[in-house]
Amino acid sequence: MKTPIIAPSILSADFADMEKVFKMLNESEADWVHLDVMDGNFVPNISFGMPVIKSLRKLTTKVFDAHLMIEKPERYIHNFKLVGVDVLTVHYETQTHLNRTIDLIKKIGMKAGVALNPHTPVNLLKDIVSELDLVLIMSVNPGYSGQKFIEHTYKKITEAKDLILATNSKAMIEVDGGVNNNNASKLFAAGADILVAASYIFNHDNPLQAIRNLKYF
Ligand code: DX5
Ligand code: ZN
Repeated sequence: MKTPIIAPSILSADFADMEKVFKMLNESEADWVHLDVMDGNFVPNISFGMPVIKSLRKLTTKVFDAHLMIEKPERYIHNFKLVGVDVLTVHYETQTHLNRTIDLIKKIGMKAGVALNPHTPVNLLKDIVSELDLVLIMSVNPGYSGQKFIEHTYKKITEAKDLILATNSKAMIEVDGGVNNNNASKLFAAGADILVAASYIFNHDNPLQAIRNLKYF
């Protein structure tokens, strides 16, 4: 049976005890670790950057999935490769030369993704989707964990799936924001390949079980 890739976002985890957090993630059925990088400009919040990711890299062999919520992310692509990121996603809204940025991410050996804010239409990816490894559909306004899921996301997932099929793209669809045990199966059925979750997992009494709930519904 095909199951979604689960990518816990450490944004809601205890930053004072990352060894414990990663011990749990390593024991869990999480596939990837989602790293939310925020600069206080593109989004109102500030999170963490390269030095933190470099330290965390020693704690796991799971795929590092970095979601850059920063202005001009193209300045730091090499740096994210150096600290061990495997999948690098930039926001469509930050880019003038998206094609150049995607080329660079792939050329230096990472998978390349593009994230869309809730108001950004999927069809803007029409001329680049065949180059992408991942399309990240934001189901909340980026910046914080713990926000309410935006229902319009289902329609965008369907549109992204249609666009990917129509262009023979190999891109996977990732959904990020407000994902929990109530919407996971519906998101997967709509075409999501990767489910990101922060608060649902890390605020749960049993994070291992929460991860299982997302993967097996
Ligand atoms: C929001 C981040 C998300 C966030 C998800 O800007 O991109 O990855 O951590 O948090 P939840 O799952 O709590 O909505
Ligand atoms: Zn994210």
